[in-house]
Amino acid sequence: KKERTLAMIKPDGVTKIGDIFELINTANLIVTKAKMIKLTWSQAADFYMEHQSKPFFNNLVQFMSSGPVVAMELMGDEAISIWRRLLGPTDSAVARREAQESVRAQFGTDGIKNVAHGSDSVAAHSFTHFLICFSTPYPLEFFFP
Ligand code: CMP
Repeated sequence: KKERTLAMIKPDGVTKIGDIFELINTANLIVTKAKMIKLTWSQAADFYMEHQSKPFFNNLVQFMSSGPVVAMELMGDEAISIWRRLLGPTDSAVARREAQESVRAQFGTDGIKNVAHGSDSVAAHSFTHFLICFSTPYPLEFFFP
């Protein structure tokens, strides 16, 4: 099933973007939108609002608004799960143990500096993510193809 997903290269991943694009290509995903932006604290907080009660929320929002990020739309068969598998486990140390080839294993630092983000489903928060990154409401056909 053809899907679109939102991928975000985090501030610690921006200098690794060439390697990341190579992995994206190898996984047969296509970059259909890309935009380098600097999120404000409040945009980063909105992006991660589902995590607002977590102990790491403040550090996460601080980190995500600390430098440029690259927001991308990826498209391809099973794009959502393929991109998340390519990323590997959230914690880069776990990724190095369990998924050596993954983006986070190769380029990540820890649980928070983990190179990139991927939407976990075709759900309401994905809509918010696209809206924050690309400023325009995302076409309904994303949700009702
Ligand atoms: P991401 O895939 O962007 O989704 C939520 C983010 O919160 C996650 O990547 C990490 O950057 C961060 N995160 C998740 N769990 C932890 C944790 N236990 N400690 C610190 N940061 C975390």
